[in-house]
Amino acid sequence: MQFNLSRRAFAAGAAMMPIACTQAGKTMMASTPATGAPSASGIVNPLVKQRADAQIFRHDDGYYYMTGSVPEYDRLVLRRSRTLAGLTDAEERVLWRHEASGPMSGFIWAPELHLVDGRWVMYFAAGPSGGGEDVFRIRTYAVVCDGSDPMRGNWSVLGQFQAPWDSFNLDSTMFMHRGTRYFAWAQREPGIETNSNLYIAPMASALTLAAKPARLTVPTLDWEILGFKVNEAPAVLEKNGKLFISYSASATDARYCLGLLTADADADIMDLRNWTKSPRPVFTTCEATSVYGPGHNSFTVDEEGRDILVYHGRDYAQIEGDPLFNPDRHTRVQRLYFDADGNPDFGVPVGNGPLPDRFEAATTPNTWLAHDGTRLFAGAAPLPQTQFRMLPAEGGTLRLSPILLRDQCLNAAPDGTVSLVPTNGTATASLFRRIPGRTKDSVRFESAAFPGRAIAPGGDGLKLAPASNSATLWRAS
Ligand code: AHR
Repeated sequence: MQFNLSRRAFAAGAAMMPIACTQAGKTMMASTPATGAPSASGIVNPLVKQRADAQIFRHDDGYYYMTGSVPEYDRLVLRRSRTLAGLTDAEERVLWRHEASGPMSGFIWAPELHLVDGRWVMYFAAGPSGGGEDVFRIRTYAVVCDGSDPMRGNWSVLGQFQAPWDSFNLDSTMFMHRGTRYFAWAQREPGIETNSNLYIAPMASALTLAAKPARLTVPTLDWEILGFKVNEAPAVLEKNGKLFISYSASATDARYCLGLLTADADADIMDLRNWTKSPRPVFTTCEATSVYGPGHNSFTVDEEGRDILVYHGRDYAQIEGDPLFNPDRHTRVQRLYFDADGNPDFGVPVGNGPLPDRFEAATTPNTWLAHDGTRLFAGAAPLPQTQFRMLPAEGGTLRLSPILLRDQCLNAAPDGTVSLVPTNGTATASLFRRIPGRTKDSVRFESAAFPGRAIAPGGDGLKLAPASNSATLWRAS
């Protein structure tokens, strides 16, 4: 479906280059993509190709459910799996297709599945067909399942969300907070010259609000108005006594990024004074890992209950035509970590390939296997500089490769020093054996070239030490 239109009427000004992730102030250039079999989780990014705006959640039936926008924008789809990795190849069912005519016969965007008073309800944004500007007359609707199994039941239209204004609205989500069900969504508000702002309100029913909405954020900061003035795609996470609402901003090309709102979980979340907005984007394009325009996220947990960030992103920056009609916003997932204050540290989009891990020195907390450029060390460093992929190699060995330097890996020298070198398929000195420690997440990396010796902190870098030495023990996280 091609339209020579932009769905966003409020152009904010000259286009600017995307914000590239940097490594210690240096903009890392892209390098060859990591390859290799799945990590321990079995997850390989992109998790699901050509599914944008993905919602993934783990339901109490033990399944992960996933929905999202399809490139054709013509139908609502759902898949489920017992594991996150299983979503990649899971059966995908079409729950409902856009109508032949009328207000829900055009674009179908950003569905979300929620259990509302015991019924499965899928919310989505839809517009009419027929061409012209009218196709962007986007409003929020819902379909409902007639049974308890959303993959097997019959779905029918429940109705239209009764928004506070009859204007462009989309990207709704729902969350429970202190016993009240809230709706959060993006909408264009009459009198405010933006494409969309974010709102929340308590709900009276599946399609109606119980109070006037609170306008949480309007796109005003420079990184929110790159190309278009957009705040959309709210996603909610309660953690560490705080309530976080992430959202997406700017044009849907490489300038798309995430912002973050934070409130005390015990505060009145309808009172704007209780919310703070991050002055900088928390998740942006990263040239070093070749992920462009990361956004429209959701939150879930992995099989061990650890926080997972779900988002979409492209593998390339340059797009022909309107980004809205480019199909390559792939669903991606990665671990979500938190800083000492309990705030999420989004890091950078980790890029294609198996999920990376972090390795903390078991004998020295907060001392991470890390790099700064090609300098390896054990210590404190920004999250992206502590994320390494374990890439399977021959004979049960592996290579350790930093996400920011995907064509490099750790290498052991005869004098015991461990450094980063360009990945060379034949060098034994770059091969290590993963030796499990006594606890589930502890590990040693024994050199294949120098058996009996394993990676340990050493001086201001890394060195090989006798594998029996406790300093060679790392805790994966
Ligand atoms: O993917 C379609 C729409 O484009 C989504 O609803 C919005 O979040 C994105 O910008």
